[in-house]
Amino acid sequence: MSPAASAAVRDRLRIAIQKSGRLSEPARALLSSAGLSWRESRDRLFCYGESLPVDLLLVRDDDIPSLIAEGVCDLGIVGRNVLNEEIDGRSASGQPAAFREWRALGFGGCKLSVAVPEGGDWRGAQQLTGKRIATTYPNQLRTWLRAQQVEADIVVLNGSVEIAPRLGQADAICDLVSSGATLAANQLKAVQDVMLSEAVLAGPVQPFGDVRAELADLLLRRMDGVLRIRDSKLLLFQTARDSLPQVLQLLPDAEPPTMCAVDGADTLALQALCHGAMTWQRLEDLKRAGARGLMVLPVERMLA
Ligand code: PRP
Ligand code: ZN
Repeated sequence: MSPAASAAVRDRLRIAIQKSGRLSEPARALLSSAGLSWRESRDRLFCYGESLPVDLLLVRDDDIPSLIAEGVCDLGIVGRNVLNEEIDGRSASGQPAAFREWRALGFGGCKLSVAVPEGGDWRGAQQLTGKRIATTYPNQLRTWLRAQQVEADIVVLNGSVEIAPRLGQADAICDLVSSGATLAANQLKAVQDVMLSEAVLAGPVQPFGDVRAELADLLLRRMDGVLRIRDSKLLLFQTARDSLPQVLQLLPDAEPPTMCAVDGADTLALQALCHGAMTWQRLEDLKRAGARGLMVLPVERMLA
């Protein structure tokens, strides 16, 4: 870490995102929704910000925490799994915290889980005592094992962790699980979650001492606005006045709805802004509770 680099005054903000991989496209989409646009460079590793003085750096996700620590980048969009691994690693080696999670971004969800061969039984974490666990996340696994008061051997691998039990390198693994397809393909089953991960905005622990502070504030405000309405939908429906309490009970995530009476006084027409996902299952439950003519409309922008 070069203190000179992090202390350097800059008048543009630099955000690092994953160059290619699961978080790459949604990260760009989120920043675009927040009003950022870039001129693509030929090597496509550095994109110069056009709408705002906010540049984009396309890197390997594992490098993002140290780029922030070194002051090469100001912010980064990275999986919590990657960030926490670096945080635990730095704290274990006595280094000061240099970066932290600024915001959870609600995409790229996955779990860091312990998995064992499909045929084996599972009676709890104590079962791992004296066993070998293969992982690319030794720091978080160590922290978790300590919290469980379990002593086990951590086998650090750089990839292909799933095949370690079959190769006789390990008795269990601790790896990311998203759809679960990789575990199933390797005859493993997840038995214990170590941490829940998703994409996060990471930034320095120390505040910026120059114009980057205002740029970061502006970006955060816009991102919060985008995140707030991401799953929001406008729900339109009618219901008999008698059924209203049951219907509203199914809409705990809705703003107070706008209502008006139709057909005299017995039928009400409602519009409600709902913040949670409006799945088919929810619509069917609403219908059973007495809602009719349900219509779900996207919310483009919102200014409260
Ligand atoms: C992760 C993880 C698993 C896989 C799990 O790897 O290491 O192999 O995803 O996903 P699934 O449950 O949907 O099958 P990733 O593809 O992120 O690559 P990496 O480990 O090389 O970064
Ligand atoms: Zn990776």
